[in-house]
Formats: sequence, C-alpha cells, structure tokens
Amino acid sequence: MAFETLYQSANHKFLWLGKDESGLEEGVQSNQYLIIDGGKGLLIDPGGFGVFARVLVNISQILDPADIKDIFLCHQDPDVGGGLASWFEMTPAVVHVSELWIRFLIHFGVNDITRFKGIADRGGSLTLSSGRTVEFIPAHFLHSPGNFHLFDHESGILFTGDIGAAVYPKGKTPLFVENFAEHVTYMEGFHARYIGTNKAIAIWLQKVRKLPIKMVAPQHGSIFKEEMVGKFFDWISGIRCGFDVMDL
Ligand SMILES: [Fe+2]
Ligand SMILES: [Fe+2]
Repeated sequence: MAFETLYQSANHKFLWLGKDESGLEEGVQSNQYLIIDGGKGLLIDPGGFGVFARVLVNISQILDPADIKDIFLCHQDPDVGGGLASWFEMTPAVVHVSELWIRFLIHFGVNDITRFKGIADRGGSLTLSSGRTVEFIPAHFLHSPGNFHLFDHESGILFTGDIGAAVYPKGKTPLFVENFAEHVTYMEGFHARYIGTNKAIAIWLQKVRKLPIKMVAPQHGSIFKEEMVGKFFDWISGIRCGFDVMDL
C-alpha cells in the first residue's frame, strides 16, 4: 500500500503514507501522514532514516517534494524525525516542533537552525496555502515533556503522535481499528510504561474532547474512526500508567 486518502475535499487532502510489509524496516512500525492543501505539503512525523526512502517514494507519486513547505514533529524521538537531515536536502520545508527540542535536533545532522520554528508550550496554529488552519494542541508529558498533537480543522483528523499507539506483531497492523477490545491489548503496554502520570492524560482530554474530531491518527498502529474515537477517549481516560504501575 503506497498511501491511503483519509480525507479529501476541494484543494485539501489528508493522506496516510503507507507502510513497509517487507520486514526490511527495522524497529517499531510507524505511520507518516501528509496534508496537501492548495498544492503545498505539510509532512507529519516523517520518521527515522530507515523509513525515509519508502516515504519519499510514496510522496513522489502525488507531490513534488519541493512543494513540501512545512514539516511537523510531535516531539524529539528518532522515530519521529531521525531522517530530518535528508528531508532538509529534499525539501525547502520549515520544521515546526516544541521550542524545547530544537537544540537537541541539531544532533540529527541537520545544518540549518534557521529552518526550525519553535512551538511555545501553549501551542499555536499554522495557516496553510488555502487559508485553512491546523492547530498545534499541547500534549505535554504524553510522553515527551515538549509534545504536541496536530488538529486539522478541515478534515477533523487529530494526529496524536504516540498517544493511541499500538504495537501489533510484525505485518499484522490493520489500517483502521477493527476490534476495539483486541486492539487494547496492543496499546496497554506502551501507554502504561511511556506515560508518567494519568494527570497528563486528564489535562489533554479536557482540551481535545471539545474538538469536532472525526478520526484519531496515531504515529504507531491503527487509525480510530467513527465509534472507535469515543471508545478510545473513554479507554485512555481510565488507564493506570507510569508511577501508578511501576514497582520501584
Ligand atoms: Fe516517542
Ligand atoms: Fe513514536
């Protein structure tokens, strides 16, 4: 699967950029997404060096990489932006990321600090080519201390980075969540260990529950749509995690 259109209207598309089924991509399975608005691209969590070739090839079928104007990184992890040096070569994009992480991201081998645009803790928004906006929603400590989700007002899709992540056996990840009870078994371990406290979830939920969300698209695992969105919010509101479950 090269890519999948999650939403499409005049001048605006929200795409999932495919996955590698060959087993050659090492590490945890990761999703990359692309918004094309007014003919220009916003690339969301482009991923590590190991997925760069696949993501570039898939994008090239639909958009000239020179038209990628913006890149969003939800946080600093290598599976989010480890391939940044290559994206700096292939695109003229500005990178939007928590201002906390810019001086660390230099270690990914990027050479031009002026291409980073720091997002302040309270969040912000970005106006796309057509005049539509996406919003950077604070999601701090979920799991990174400088962490944002991205809400696309036009499509109603909320990109949630590692929140909602599910780790299936290799090659078994469905694109959309099918059986919620089974899906929970692939989400539990990650959320319990990588999130320090349920308080971070409660603060985040207060914000996102007010948004008109149609889909929740995480960086790992499957996408939640229709009734799965509400089920996901209900599930995560009650999880025990971090210090609640660690036996130290
Ligand atoms: Fe992460
Ligand atoms: Fe991740």
